[in-house]
Amino acid sequence: MTKDSFTVKKLPRIVFEKEGISRLPELIESRGSSVLVVTGGGSFTRSPHWQVLEGSLQRLGGEMHHGSIEAEPTPEGIDDICRRHRRHNIEVVTAIGGGSVLDGGKAAAAMLKSEGSVVEYLEGVGTRKPDGTKVPFIAVPTTAGTGSETTANAVLSRVGPGGFKKSLRHENYTPDIALIDPLLTLGLPLQQTAYCCMDAFTQLVESYLSTAASFFSDDLAWGALRRLKPSLPRLSRAEVGLEDRVNMSYAACVSGITLSHAGLGVVHGFASTIGGRFAIPHGLVCATLMAEANAVTLEKLRNVDTGSLALDKYAHLGRLLSEGHKRSDSYYQDAFIAILQGLTADCGIEPLGRFGITAGDLLAMARASSCKNNPADLGSDERQAILAARL
Ligand SMILES: [Fe+2]
Repeated sequence: MTKDSFTVKKLPRIVFEKEGISRLPELIESRGSSVLVVTGGGSFTRSPHWQVLEGSLQRLGGEMHHGSIEAEPTPEGIDDICRRHRRHNIEVVTAIGGGSVLDGGKAAAAMLKSEGSVVEYLEGVGTRKPDGTKVPFIAVPTTAGTGSETTANAVLSRVGPGGFKKSLRHENYTPDIALIDPLLTLGLPLQQTAYCCMDAFTQLVESYLSTAASFFSDDLAWGALRRLKPSLPRLSRAEVGLEDRVNMSYAACVSGITLSHAGLGVVHGFASTIGGRFAIPHGLVCATLMAEANAVTLEKLRNVDTGSLALDKYAHLGRLLSEGHKRSDSYYQDAFIAILQGLTADCGIEPLGRFGITAGDLLAMARASSCKNNPADLGSDERQAILAARL
């Protein structure tokens, strides 16, 4: 049964507005005059927005410092940014970029007020508990995927044998402001747009199906899925327009809230395990596993938990995303899986083998992954079968 009790956690002040980037200087100024701006590999710093931001902050009498996150954030990268900027008495941090940049900025905002290395505070890696103290943080996403702009955790990675992909988490680390300007996502290439969109879509579906879902998280997830519905086929046909960018930005923002309140399923259980060992975009991992993971989950529910609410929810998802009326629940459950398979194929989502994963890697990854909150409890053999199907 979907829970009828819930606690709404800390949320950012959400400013969702086309051309909202023009409001960033005033939002920064409202929090402090010495700002650390964290960006990615350079695309934002080469855009006209960068000069406008610099000029505006100068006119307002502010002092601007810059840090960059070139790829997925690492503990060493965060420590380095903090080492270089602690002496600047930073009063506000803003991160402008994709999910990795937002996570990096979020971690830097926290660690500017904490002692030691960030690795000491990572869940499952370090032994210290974050106390939640941080510099005010403004998240400005330029992709529509992870929903980091509305979550309380920053994911940091060390990729390779013995690697990890783990969270720095505290409710206070939720951004103070999420400034979401869908126009900033316009320049994102179509393939990356597909990965990001599939991440947000997966997060909405997994939190909707989660064993920890409440009607608060369900209503939010359902509303965002309805808004995303017309954009999914246009994503498949490479016809993504401005309306789709708005829908995707909204879906990503809401997915961060629903995952924070309901948790996620087996796809994201795989994502952290795979992401710690292989350099694969997070959204691609979600996209490539989504259809198979749900097919296996649905099959198990049909075999062992025929009264499960999740079966009703699978039918609702199929009804929402497919055409036609008055078919059986079973028809719509299958239709949902077929839609996921179609999205994977039409968006050209690559299998795991393209990234160096071999059959010999699967058992260890299946055992290390989790399916907490997945509507069916899948054993490591079932999880291995999901990976094998997408090798
Ligand atoms: Fe995700």
